Amino acid sequence: MSKKSIAIDGPSGAGKSTLARQIAKALGFLYVDTGAIYRTLALAALRRGIDPANSADVLEVLHGIKIDLGYGADGLQHMYLDGADVTEEIRTPAVSAGASAVSAIPAVRTFLMDMQRDLAASRDVVMDGRDIGTVVLPGADVKIFLTATAEERARRRYEELLLRGTEVDYETVLRDIVARDERDTSRTAAPLRQAEDAVAVDTTGKSQEESLDLLLNLIRRQLAQ
Ligand code: DC
Repeated sequence: MSKKSIAIDGPSGAGKSTLARQIAKALGFLYVDTGAIYRTLALAALRRGIDPANSADVLEVLHGIKIDLGYGADGLQHMYLDGADVTEEIRTPAVSAGASAVSAIPAVRTFLMDMQRDLAASRDVVMDGRDIGTVVLPGADVKIFLTATAEERARRRYEELLLRGTEVDYETVLRDIVARDERDTSRTAAPLRQAEDAVAVDTTGKSQEESLDLLLNLIRRQLAQ
């Protein structure tokens, strides 16, 4: 039987990763966070003192490193850079900005696409990102486009960073989110946009549980069709 795939796309902070992880758990699918792959490349560039927007330099880094994605005993996705676990290190604001820059480089996207397609070919997956429904898995069984207002997304990200012990202020987080939205939607290589056959779900004002219920109902209905 062919593998099932659920594509969840949307801007940063819309709740994609938490919801996608919970959906995967509920359905017994593998959760794949594709942003983490771009983040790992950005970390490698930053560590070498390379500008993540310089495509020639970033491509040289990409060809000289090994990025692996694995699943720990905790069942969570871990990222490995040249064999070392960098799961925590790729979550800083500097890496977020760097990931946005490297992900705008077309050759980077092409190179990393195979890794994402291979995963979806081997397992039933819930994959989250920006171009999963439009480019990576255009034939996905279910496509969701998850959104929320920039203010709500900034508030969530701010609280998440505080919990992690990162010192930030809300205004900076909001500014970063708006700038990242702008870069992710205006780039020429696979810009963030809703696939024509995706269902748009706005999580503004909804609790985690409400959003999860709504999404699981929708996905189960579509998978049963
Ligand atoms: O989802 P995230 O915040 O971890 O993503 C980090 C960056 O990577 C974000 O700026 C958009 C980019 N990205 C992408 O271009 N395509 C994907 N499939 C996933 C992430």
